[in-house]
Amino acid sequence: ATESPRLTVIGTGYLGATHAICMAVLGYEVLGVDVDEGKIAKLASGEVPFFEPGLPELLAKALESGRLRFTTSFEEAGGFGDVHFLCVGTPQQPGSDAADLTYVDAAVRALAPYLDRRALVVGKSTVPVGTAKRLTEVIQDLAPAGTDVELAWNPEFLREGFAVDDTMRPDRMVFGVASQWAEDRLRAAFKPVLDLGTPVVRTDLATAELVKVAANSFLATKISYINAMAEVCEAVGADIKDLADSLALDDRIGGKFLKPGLGFGGGCLPKDIRAFAHRAEEIGVGQAVSFLREVDDINRRRRARTVDLVRELLGGQISGKRIAAWGAAFKPNSDDIRDAPALDVARTMHGLGGHVRVFDPAALDNARRAFPELRYGDSALDVAENADVVVLLTEWSDFREIDPAALAEVVREKRIVDGRHALDAERWRAAGWEYRALGRS
Ligand code: UDX
Repeated sequence: ATESPRLTVIGTGYLGATHAICMAVLGYEVLGVDVDEGKIAKLASGEVPFFEPGLPELLAKALESGRLRFTTSFEEAGGFGDVHFLCVGTPQQPGSDAADLTYVDAAVRALAPYLDRRALVVGKSTVPVGTAKRLTEVIQDLAPAGTDVELAWNPEFLREGFAVDDTMRPDRMVFGVASQWAEDRLRAAFKPVLDLGTPVVRTDLATAELVKVAANSFLATKISYINAMAEVCEAVGADIKDLADSLALDDRIGGKFLKPGLGFGGGCLPKDIRAFAHRAEEIGVGQAVSFLREVDDINRRRRARTVDLVRELLGGQISGKRIAAWGAAFKPNSDDIRDAPALDVARTMHGLGGHVRVFDPAALDNARRAFPELRYGDSALDVAENADVVVLLTEWSDFREIDPAALAEVVREKRIVDGRHALDAERWRAAGWEYRALGRS
């Protein structure tokens, strides 16, 4: 089969919407499917329901081409698609470390009854190893076409803020397949991407599921490693910035994901390492990845330590002090506040009686909705009005570009805690500021 397969993308959240839009731009006929009518209506009218640079322009282009449509009907999806991508979320279960597979199961059960001819279902969601094998049985059991429907796993590695580029020009593609036919179908579904020379690893379903969690665990471990070194640096008055820069120059180590600071958050890294540790325990290899618990603990300690630094700088008392919190998103160029270290720190300081005011260039609406108890402002300078301390929590370039002299005009005290090593310490100190950062004296 060399003709272009028709694609459905089931789940039009962050991953699915990006995938559907990019595939249509690359030339495929694509049907986006979601149970959320509001989301479908927005996308169909050309609105991307989240912040992602470049995506609104591509959505307009895809809709204009007529190759991208949206529906809430699984019957329509079954009739339309040759390859069905599963892109639904797998959040952390409330009160547990395990992944919540409700949405994956629901999507498969909704689609399978309409699969009455040969088709490939491709999982992209991040799932506990073993899920694909179980889902294969569910699908083949429920689909009228039976074993003519196959399941493959094709993990997604896209980063928020770079989602378009990561989708169009990925570092690698992993094809977890059970047959040559499935591999050929996947190759046809990604032809323009593979034509760029993108390396493909063909493997089994379990390995493909594991690649994703192994990659995210490695990245999380690298961040927590450098943050653990920051703890040691603080104890002896050493400097984590110089230490990290020195390690980064060893090209076996490299500087990526070696930036010390407030640590990782977001919708992936924290929940993925927890779900992986949990799954490993279930299958009897908990010890192999028990270090991931430590990685998680180191990461949480950074948040607590940031609050401590603020308290120290304020002379031992947070209560009653005016605190400017710069940043709410879990990282810059994103409006995502899931497990955001910035808001965690802001809320803790608020809970301790600090008069915290938060500003973020993109995530303010989301933050306001999630944490109405916090106070917010319209700009970095606005929230710094009469502040006793400014705390940089997300390294937006807007904050980096602020002039220490201009900020000095509005604050009450020239004190700044740089939770992300985003500022030039010498410059701020030269301008008369008391500057503190994690892992530096
Ligand atoms: C991550 C993975 O990178 C991506 O491959 C996967 O598909 C989803 O999870 P994302 O959550 O978008 O992507 O963010 P990423 O850019 O990886 O950053 C994760 C967190 O780590 C952020 O909170 C960031 O601030 C933090 N981080 C990153 C550090 O603290 N130090 C670093 O050196 C790098």
